Amino acid sequence: MPTLAVYPGSFDPLTNGHVDIILRGARLFDRIIVAILVNAEKSPLFSMEERVDIARKVFEQERKVEVDTFDGLLVDYVERRQAQVIVRGLRAVSDFEFEFQMALMNQRLNSRIETVFMMPAEQYTYISSRLIKEVFKLGGRVNGLVPELVEQRLREKV
Ligand code: PNS
Repeated sequence: MPTLAVYPGSFDPLTNGHVDIILRGARLFDRIIVAILVNAEKSPLFSMEERVDIARKVFEQERKVEVDTFDGLLVDYVERRQAQVIVRGLRAVSDFEFEFQMALMNQRLNSRIETVFMMPAEQYTYISSRLIKEVFKLGGRVNGLVPELVEQRLREKV
């Protein structure tokens, strides 16, 4: 049976750290679904449609990567998609506590689903969508930290 993984998140916006994890996941699993949470934040910088469009374009050459949206409980979405694995990236110890809680809660909600943690390449360990937005809004450079398409879309926002 093919192993299908779900990589959930807000992706507001997609960063090179996310891209790195997705490509690593695509090497390990038969397919990886980038699952963008609907309504994660009240006022996201990028709309759901923009985030889906960006991710689809960035991964259009990757036949193992699919982009989708989900709402409600993550484990219900994973089950509906008949996936077996949730992939999450771990950058630093500071990520661990929240990720640990989520993984154990998801395990309690559905013990058939496993959470797998992956480390991004070292140069991406300090990047977060929140920092990218802040730095960009204040006029800082984010090149090399996000896909070029994200940079372009960020520029169009100002
Ligand atoms: O990119 P993020 O914001 O760190 O992703 C968090 C996400 C989307 C993985 C998490 O908020 C989530 O799974 N939300 C869906 C609702 C849910 O299942 N909550 C219980 C998680 S234990």
